[in-house]
Amino acid sequence: MKITIIGTGYVGLVTGTCLAETGNDVICVDNNVEKVASMQNGIIPFYEPGLESMFKRNIEQGRLTFTSDLAHGVNESLIIFLALPTPPAEDGSADLSYVIKVSEGIGVCMNDYKIIVNKSTVPVGTTELVRKTIRKYTDTEFDVVSNPEFLREGVAINDFMKPNRIVVGTRSEYAKKVFRELYEPYMRQSDKMIVMDERSAEITKYAANAFLAAKISFMNEISGICEKLGANIEDVRKGIGTDDRIGKQFLYAGIGYGGSCFPKDVLALNKIASDNDCEHEMVESIIKINQAQRKKFVNRIKSFFRGDLAGKTITLWGLSFKPETDDIREAPSIYIIDELSAAGARVVGYDPVAGPFIKSMFGDRVSIADDQYEALTDADALILVTEWSCFRNPNFDTIAGKLKSKVIFDGRNQYDLIKMSELGFNYFSVGRRSVVSNTSIHQLT
Ligand code: UDX
Repeated sequence: MKITIIGTGYVGLVTGTCLAETGNDVICVDNNVEKVASMQNGIIPFYEPGLESMFKRNIEQGRLTFTSDLAHGVNESLIIFLALPTPPAEDGSADLSYVIKVSEGIGVCMNDYKIIVNKSTVPVGTTELVRKTIRKYTDTEFDVVSNPEFLREGVAINDFMKPNRIVVGTRSEYAKKVFRELYEPYMRQSDKMIVMDERSAEITKYAANAFLAAKISFMNEISGICEKLGANIEDVRKGIGTDDRIGKQFLYAGIGYGGSCFPKDVLALNKIASDNDCEHEMVESIIKINQAQRKKFVNRIKSFFRGDLAGKTITLWGLSFKPETDDIREAPSIYIIDELSAAGARVVGYDPVAGPFIKSMFGDRVSIADDQYEALTDADALILVTEWSCFRNPNFDTIAGKLKSKVIFDGRNQYDLIKMSELGFNYFSVGRRSVVSNTSIHQLT
């Protein structure tokens, strides 16, 4: 099939590459001419495991091409995916200006029947808005379909190639038929396509992300209860996760969720609900708890140092919002660096891939180390922010040797309490008892 993807951000490029991989001819359109030129040379604009080799292979075999010419992209293909940014506007709603501008462009140059597909997370009614916008500029027949993406960064290739479901929002029988054919190679024996109307598909995306964010916020709230009452959130997690109705995933308490999707989408759902006079107490609580969780974590660090961080060196391990990505959007590290440096601390960070992005955001307010242990030299505390695998089983002797004092704040509950105690660390995690080994140093209040 001939497919065009408009927007070569994370979703667009993963979608385009994975569609080319099964033999489709894919044209990726982006208005950034320099980016198009570098992609033509096989350079991917972000880090995603497994993407680079698949991307290069499909370029070499001629199935994946790039252009800045929207008309070329629109007229060469039957299916046109919109994978455009929908950043939050000031009031939390999704900013649709890119979607509208591109829809106008499609309407102007469309010369034949097309299926326009919305992949971006957009407010309910956007499929209709795209349809009306295109219709203003053309009499040619077309369908607009909502086909939300559920890709997780870090494992996006696997999620696309082996999806657990494909949601297609359309009432057009022809579009349904084309979509079955398009996604057939990704469904193997079982039918994973769930077809519904456009609005239901749009809400499905928000509901999925808000539900997952709710699981996290719920566990974060329970972690506070565990701390107060001397229980262990990790045991509680295992105790409830083994109930199939609850499920094991997304029950990890921590510093709160980040990334390009959850924060933005839960805010947008909150706004949609409030604009339409719908009850939305749960959605509001998800957001509140998430913000409180970060704050509580940083307050604990501040209170450990009795509010005096001036001249202290604090090291952060992990800067991306989660492991296996260089994405720092809404990463907890940003909030932590901001707070600690504002309080006078010298902040040092190490991350396998995201260091340069944090450096360009914070400049002199942060130093980025090239090595996870070097980052600890003479630091007053280590904060584990993102659970990259290189931080999961580190050499604690080296850590102890490098740190000025043996203090670890673990935002991801990676280390064993008994081991930390035996090794003589002061160790503070989330929803578990504190390990205070050296009573001569400041203690938590
Ligand atoms: C998410 C959705 O999972 C995906 O389906 C959607 O299409 C896009 O948004 P992603 O943003 O890549 O994917 O990250 P995800 O793995 O879902 O994690 C989101 C955040 O939640 C991260 O900050 C992570 O650290 C946090 N998290 C996740 C927890 O704090 N606890 C958990 O148990 C799980």
